[in-house]
Amino acid sequence: MSIQRSAVIGSGLMGAGIAEVLAKAGQDVIVSEVSAEASAAGRDRIEKSLAKAVAKGKLSADDRDQAWSRLRFTTDTGDLADRQLVIEAASENEDIKKSIFAELDSVVTDSDAILASNTSSMPIIRFAQATSRPDRVLGVHFFNPAPVQPLVEIVSSVVTADAVRQTMTDFVAEVLGKTPIQAGDRPGFIVNALLIPYLCSAIRMLESGFATKEDIDAGMVGGCAHPMGPIALADLVGLDTCLFAAESMYAETGDPAVKPPVLLSRMVDAGLLGVKSGRGFYDH
Ligand code: 3HC
Repeated sequence: MSIQRSAVIGSGLMGAGIAEVLAKAGQDVIVSEVSAEASAAGRDRIEKSLAKAVAKGKLSADDRDQAWSRLRFTTDTGDLADRQLVIEAASENEDIKKSIFAELDSVVTDSDAILASNTSSMPIIRFAQATSRPDRVLGVHFFNPAPVQPLVEIVSSVVTADAVRQTMTDFVAEVLGKTPIQAGDRPGFIVNALLIPYLCSAIRMLESGFATKEDIDAGMVGGCAHPMGPIALADLVGLDTCLFAAESMYAETGDPAVKPPVLLSRMVDAGLLGVKSGRGFYDH
């Protein structure tokens, strides 16, 4: 199966980045959003990131124009009927995602199409079960910023067809030029199973007054050669996304390491979501 027509549901931080990656890789991409405002914000995000790629010398102006011309924006899911691949990157809410998968199932006509979720930590099988084709559903998990981070987790549920897993693995490696790794449908897959306890632990350290955010971050940058420290990284990922991931992993595992820190919940209650809202633990 040669995938040429793809779509992304949602154009927030991750959806916009994934749409950009697909368009740069030559895909005909439709970006679907819930409202004209959200769609305009998504367009703006992609346009700015493409401009940054050109400014950084990662993309020629010609390639930027080509990529841009391959992107279409819609607020009508019905426009996705002819898609061969749809990647859902809506907000981390299980009910919203299930209803998106049910809708995609009724809209996408090609029975060979692949329906994927970019969820950070939610069970893929629950989205698969919302469709009449659970064997064609899997997780395709990108990392923020998607145009920069090379990794993609391929998450097979217990019923994902092996041919679907293989097609996506080849697509990610050969068409998108990224590095696929295979993960089981367990809470947090591979990366977030390790990352979310780390971020929660750093926030608890801050909450306890044990160290400042600057020193926590400097510790991991200078001591462990991470490109950024955990508090800055939580801001980059989005504090709402961190909270949803921790909540969903805690609900399934009861592991105290992913029990959401109260400070994280309060930041989200306050609308302080990190880079995406202009203020989180740091000002952006
Ligand atoms: N398009 C293409 N390339 C871009 C770009 C864009 N829009 N923006 C930046 N780049 C390139 C730059 O050219 C540069 O490349 P170079 O190293 O070859 O020169 C590189 O990306 C770094 O960019 P910058 O110099 O602008 O920025 P920094 O050096 O400050 O790096 C960062 C920023 C890439 C965010 C880096 O700090 C980093 O990697 N941080 C860690 C991010 C991380 O861990 N992400 C994973 C989060 S977890 C997740 O997403 C999962 C979720 O489920 C929770």
